[in-house]
Amino acid sequence: MWKDESLVGKRVLVTAGADGIGLEITRGFVEGGARVAVCDVSGTSLERVAAELPGVVALRADVSKEDDVGALFQAIDAGFGGLDVLVNNAGVAGPTGGVETLTLADWERTLAVNITGQFLCARAAVPRLRKGRSPSIVNLSSAAGHLGMPGRSAYSASKWAVVGFTKSLALELGPDGIRVNTVLPGAVDGPRIRAVIAAKAESLGKPLEEVTRDYTSQAALGRMATMRDIANMVRFLCCDQAANVHGQEMVVDGLTQALS
Ligand SMILES: NC(=O)c1ccc[n+]([C@@H]2O[C@H](COP(=O)([O-])OP(=O)(O)OC[C@H]3O[C@@H](n4cnc5c(N)ncnc54)[C@H](O)[C@@H]3O)[C@@H](O)[C@H]2O)c1
Repeated sequence: MWKDESLVGKRVLVTAGADGIGLEITRGFVEGGARVAVCDVSGTSLERVAAELPGVVALRADVSKEDDVGALFQAIDAGFGGLDVLVNNAGVAGPTGGVETLTLADWERTLAVNITGQFLCARAAVPRLRKGRSPSIVNLSSAAGHLGMPGRSAYSASKWAVVGFTKSLALELGPDGIRVNTVLPGAVDGPRIRAVIAAKAESLGKPLEEVTRDYTSQAALGRMATMRDIANMVRFLCCDQAANVHGQEMVVDGLTQALS
């Protein structure tokens, strides 16, 4: 993996950084010489990441809960004495089904984690980032944050919100030298997308193989993204090599023009 000296020693927080794409992002920063803290709701995943990457500070926090986020940033202050990079990665898949079948509770939970969680973490991070070294924020959106996604309206709405939030923060914080960008992954191979595909197959009454084929073939490159593809883009955005990249939607989806 390529190295960038500007990452060495940077203090990084990756939300939901103990599993899935967040864990791969965490690995990328550790390989780059950064000091990394992760939060997650899963105690098992936090134990696993602490065992795999002993230098990583693993903290329990649900990003949708104001008190959890407050305690998380106090722990960051105690461990790191500040922050240079926030990666707002935590996000849930939300419910699958036509809009008339969705419950208010599922809709609200999706927005609470996927966009309110990013707001709570950014609000706490910004005063610390102002004192940081070439500071930046990366917010995880999705290809569903610039395309419609039938049967996943809560998720898509939350991910479009991430793009608006990112662009607004970029305008607010650019004058202070804090860069803010968003990454829009297409379908990323891994357990989560397999669960989403299974839910979609069930909701449409279609065979699993057919829905899996639809997901794989929706990208012009004919494959899903890997977690490393996404981690590479996040890491690049936090390097000085990306010093003039600001307020951008970085799409990593092999060119996907419609989501099934
Ligand atoms: N997997 C994909 O195909 C895909 C595609 C596009 C965008 N994304 C986005 O990338 C990000 C990471 O996705 P993933 O597939 O790795 O997710 P995932 O479902 O695999 O979850 C990763 C981790 O998030 C943690 N988590 C869940 N809710 C949390 C909360 N409220 N607070 C803190 N941690 C929480 C889980 O415990 C888990 O360890 C999300 O924002 C997701 O929407 C994923």
